[in-house]
Amino acid sequence: MTVPLKRSDTTTVDVALGDRAYDIVIGRNVLSSLGARVAALRPGVRTAIVTDKTVARHWLAATEASLAAAAIPTSHIIVDEGEGSKTYAGLEKVSEALIAAKIERNDLVVALGGGVVGDLAGFAAAILRRGVDFVQVPTSLLAQVDSSVGGKTGINSPQGKNLLGAFHQPVLVIADTAVLDTLSPRQFRAGYAEVAKYGVLGDEAFFAWLEANHADVFKGGSAREHAIATSCRAKAAIVARDERETGDRALLNLGHTFGHALEAATGFSDRLFHGEGVAIGMVLAAQFSASLGMIPPSDAARVERHLAEVGLPTHLKDIAGFAQEGLADADALMALMAQDKKVRRGKLTFILLETVGRAVIAKDVEPARVRDFLQGKLKV
Ligand SMILES: NC(=O)c1ccc[n+]([C@@H]2O[C@H](COP(=O)([O-])OP(=O)(O)OC[C@H]3O[C@@H](n4cnc5c(N)ncnc54)[C@H](O)[C@@H]3O)[C@@H](O)[C@H]2O)c1
Ligand SMILES: [Zn+2]
Repeated sequence: MTVPLKRSDTTTVDVALGDRAYDIVIGRNVLSSLGARVAALRPGVRTAIVTDKTVARHWLAATEASLAAAAIPTSHIIVDEGEGSKTYAGLEKVSEALIAAKIERNDLVVALGGGVVGDLAGFAAAILRRGVDFVQVPTSLLAQVDSSVGGKTGINSPQGKNLLGAFHQPVLVIADTAVLDTLSPRQFRAGYAEVAKYGVLGDEAFFAWLEANHADVFKGGSAREHAIATSCRAKAAIVARDERETGDRALLNLGHTFGHALEAATGFSDRLFHGEGVAIGMVLAAQFSASLGMIPPSDAARVERHLAEVGLPTHLKDIAGFAQEGLADADALMALMAQDKKVRRGKLTFILLETVGRAVIAKDVEPARVRDFLQGKLKV
C-alpha cells in the first residue's frame, strides 16, 4: 500500500497574546490562501496592499489574485525598495494613499514585503484613524522569522534607526516559503543569521540541527519550513512572555549591540546588511562572553564556525572595504553603541552567552572592558 503524499504541509504557529492573539501560517504556496483567510477573519472587509517595487514585480499579482478570488476589494501602494522608504516621507506617502483608498477603521492593511515594508505599513496602520488592523505577508527570510512577528512597527529618524514607532500586532501573518525563491542569495543568507540566533540564544538542539541541515534550509523544501517555524515559535514564545521588552524580549538582541554599531559605521549601506552585522555581532558577543570567562573559547568558535560555513561574515575584516578604509576605531564604535537606544545611563546592556543555547541579559557591562575587547579585535 502506498501512503498518499500529504498535499499541504502548512504549519501554524500561535502568538498567544490574549485578545490580540494571531496565527503565523507557514508553508509553500500559502499566499494563495490569503484571500480565504482574510474573508474568514473579517467578512466584508476592504484591503490595501503596501509593497515595494521589487516585491511588487514578483508577488503583487499573486497577492491580488488571492484577494480577488475571495471577492475582497483591494488597491495597492508601491514604495521604493530599501531603508530610504522607512522615513517621514515614506510614511506620508503611505498614509495619504491609505486615506485616499478609503481604508476605514474596520478595514485591513496588507504589508507585502520585507522588514522595511512591514515596519512602515504596520506603523501607518497603527496611526491611521487611531489604529487599523493589518496583515503581514513577509517576503524576506528576515521578515518571516523576525520582523513580521511581535508587533514592533516604525520608521527611522534622521537621528537614528527605528526611533519612531508603535507596538501594533498584526491580525495574521502569512509566511509563504516559496516567495523566498526570488530573494537574492545574499539577502537569504543575511536572514539566516537571525535563524541561527534563535538556536544560539535559547535552543542548543536547534543550533545542532542547523549545523547538520543548513544546506537543505538554503535549498528550500521541508527543512526550510522547519527552520522558519522553529524560529517563529521561539520568537512567539518570547513575545508572549514580554510583549513590550521589559525583560526577556531583550534576548532577541543577541549580536545586535555590536551589529548595529557596525551597520552605523558602514553608513547602513550595502557594505553590510543587517543580518550580516548580526552575524559578526553574534560572534563578537560569543567571544566577549569567552573573554569574561562565561563560556569556553570552543563555544565561541562553534558559533563562528557555523556562521562562516554558510558564507556569513564573522570578522570585522570580512566587511567590504575594511582593509582599505578601515572601519572606525574602538572609541568611535563605543560612541555608536552608546547611541543605541538599549543603553542606559552610560552603562552598556549586552546579551551574553552562558553556553551555546542559553543567552543572558547582562546589564551594567563596564564600557572599558568592551573597549579593550574591541581594540583587540580591530587589530586582528
Ligand atoms: N519590527 C521588527 O521587529 C524588526 C525586526 C528586525 C528587523 N526589522 C527591520 O526590518 C528591515 C530589514 O528587513 P529586510 O532585511 O527584509 O529588508 P527589506 O525589506 O529592505 O528587504 C530586502 C530587499 O529584498 C527585497 N525583497 C524582499 N522580498 C523579496 C522577494 N521575495 N523577492 C525578491 N526580492 C525581495 C526588497 O525589495 C529589498 O530590496 C530593517 O528596516 C529593520 O529595522 C524590524
Ligand atoms: Zn535583527
